[in-house]
Amino acid sequence: MNAIIDRGWVGRLKRAPELNADSYGDFCEGMRAFIFGRLGATVKVEADATISKAKETGRPLERTNDVRALFDPVPVIATRNRMLRSAQEMMWRRYRESFQAHAATWESELASFDKKGPGTVTYDPAWDPPAYVKHPIHIQPGGYGGDPICGYWYHHASNVFFVGANTQDEYHLSLAKALRPPADGKVKRVIDLGCSIGQLTVTAKERFKDAEVTGLDVAAAQVRYAHKRAAELGVECHFVQRLAEDTKYPDGHFDMVTAFLLFHEVTLEAGRKIVAEAFRILRPGGVFNVFDFPTGFKSYDPYFRYFMEIDHTDNGEPYELDFIASDFDALLTKTGFTVERGAQDVMLARTTYAIKPA
Ligand SMILES: C[S@@+](CC[C@H](N)C(=O)[O-])C[C@H]1O[C@@H](n2cnc3c(N)ncnc32)[C@H](O)[C@@H]1O
Repeated sequence: MNAIIDRGWVGRLKRAPELNADSYGDFCEGMRAFIFGRLGATVKVEADATISKAKETGRPLERTNDVRALFDPVPVIATRNRMLRSAQEMMWRRYRESFQAHAATWESELASFDKKGPGTVTYDPAWDPPAYVKHPIHIQPGGYGGDPICGYWYHHASNVFFVGANTQDEYHLSLAKALRPPADGKVKRVIDLGCSIGQLTVTAKERFKDAEVTGLDVAAAQVRYAHKRAAELGVECHFVQRLAEDTKYPDGHFDMVTAFLLFHEVTLEAGRKIVAEAFRILRPGGVFNVFDFPTGFKSYDPYFRYFMEIDHTDNGEPYELDFIASDFDALLTKTGFTVERGAQDVMLARTTYAIKPA
């Protein structure tokens, strides 16, 4: 086994231990750029032509089986699906191999940061979370919490996923900017639900410097890496391993609650509980800032329906189809929130401000 070389940082991401892994990641990133760029443009032309022809001949387009029968045989669409799945498998495999080759080093680094500040991390190695959160979402081997050091390789793989735009917390900085504080401007405590490796937690703390900012995630591996990285950046955040539907905080404890891309990755039942929990832990006038897929469609564009179906089957997204078919705004309103829509979309995620009446 080769010795580990400290290859420094690129932006706010520590370089992978081997140049080889980063080069491989760069190749996967290129594949994704091609799939969503030049190939995507060709797919769009073919998909539009296929839909027009189907409409002319009166083919049904309503059900999943209808759109699969329509688009699956189109060569450029089949090529796109295969390449996307392969790029995803390749990015996980290479970064995972690279970090696992030195697993003991990263485990001891995490253990030493567990006890160091700024900030804190709290987790329970004996706790066994519910089965629904262990699904290998995005076909990540072991899911979000299966490998104790997965935070390291998740961070690099997510940079590939975001086509190279996750070295500076680019998306998270723009989300932090879009966060809406309560109307009275008082922000003492913020909690980021489903914080993963803590990028929104850190950027929220950088914006609300005087607030106590906490990141909560069900996966110990995620909050431990999140804490290590926040501490390395010198940003004081607190990370806890808990369920978003049962945070254990008192009523009215927080001024702001955030959740980026959490709801489409949980069951509808868990989603309902998380909304109720966010309402409970917010103080009157507090704001629940949600960034997630749009929901409540009356009808779908056939290719969008197909695209989501392929994401569901090929990219390990077991709950997203139920989520986009649900009416999230109605759930928020029924819980007691007043709902306002923000201007900003990040990836497929739209911005929702759910305000607890003062
Ligand atoms: C797509 S990631 C979220 C990305 C993250 N919010 C960010 O800013 O990059 C989803 C995260 O939600 C966590 N998660 C899933 N179900 C959860 C639950 N019921 N309670 C808390 N965290 C959960 C997963 O472990 C995972 O880290």
